Amino acid sequence: MTPVCSDSPRQPYFMQLFTQDLEATAVELKAALSASSVRLSPKFLYDALGSTLFDAITRLPEYYPTRTEALIVDTHLDDIARAVGPVGTLIDLGAGNCEKAARLLPALQPDRYVAVDISADFLAEALARLQRLQPSLETWGLGLDFSGALTLPDGAVQGRPLFFYPGSSIGNFDPAQALSFLTGLRKQVADGALLIGVDLLKPVTLLEPAYDDALGVTAAFNLNLLLHLNRLLGSNFDPRGWRHAAHFNAADSRIEMHLEARSEVTVQWPGGTRRFLAGERIHTENSHKHSVRGFAALLADAGFRTQRHWCDPQGWFAVFLASA
Ligand code: AVJ
Repeated sequence: MTPVCSDSPRQPYFMQLFTQDLEATAVELKAALSASSVRLSPKFLYDALGSTLFDAITRLPEYYPTRTEALIVDTHLDDIARAVGPVGTLIDLGAGNCEKAARLLPALQPDRYVAVDISADFLAEALARLQRLQPSLETWGLGLDFSGALTLPDGAVQGRPLFFYPGSSIGNFDPAQALSFLTGLRKQVADGALLIGVDLLKPVTLLEPAYDDALGVTAAFNLNLLLHLNRLLGSNFDPRGWRHAAHFNAADSRIEMHLEARSEVTVQWPGGTRRFLAGERIHTENSHKHSVRGFAALLADAGFRTQRHWCDPQGWFAVFLASA
């Protein structure tokens, strides 16, 4: 048997735009660590190991969002594709392992796939895999931090765009930030559309285990942020001195993740130190849970006038399609 291979297989076109401004990142981190209560951006959860651990989280029995969203997309794929219409460029925001977009590609048949993720190394590997499965698709990878605002390079979008923001990553934004992010996105959507996954409010007995699983994978994901900080800052956090904590904050309708010092500890980095008391916490992530009505209103406030959504039978998760 002769293996079938083409002479020059198409390669993903890869750009790392997140020219890691290490200086600015270190300044941001030092300021955060010097505040009376420490709050870090969840983007620091995603180095290469963090992305791999998140990938493992999505396979845990307790973590329902990924598989529920996949069920919704698989169940309604034809309906979704009809409602979306023709797609020139599929822009995947927070593409990660690219598996979510891979479900859509056969039905949407875009000319170009643009995968955006802050974790550039992880993205490059995932994209190379996807390109082997979809050899004729024009594939772009952008290593880019869009936690502030999304700025795509010139020429990235060709034809009618579909922005795909799956997994309820929008939940990392508080309502005001979500509104400003979606308003910015609305302008870039132009004559295209936004397909966005949203995790819904549900009993705390389902929410909390999803963020504090029996195997401790989410704990490892959260604690790994300390190793990432050590690399970015030259600090000496010891993950063994910290405990993962996740709880539902009902007043703000969000899961909060924290790292809690097991005992008093002084952390050092070049040019600074910080003492943490036993039980003192570092706030590492918020994951907001929405109602269908509330999220529809948020989309409308951001300027999206036309909307549809699909849910799973249990009403745990929703996939919204929105356009001008
Ligand atoms: C990738 C932001 C959607 O909030 O559920 C999973 C991240 N944190 N377990 C989420 C996460 C802890 C995840 N998002």
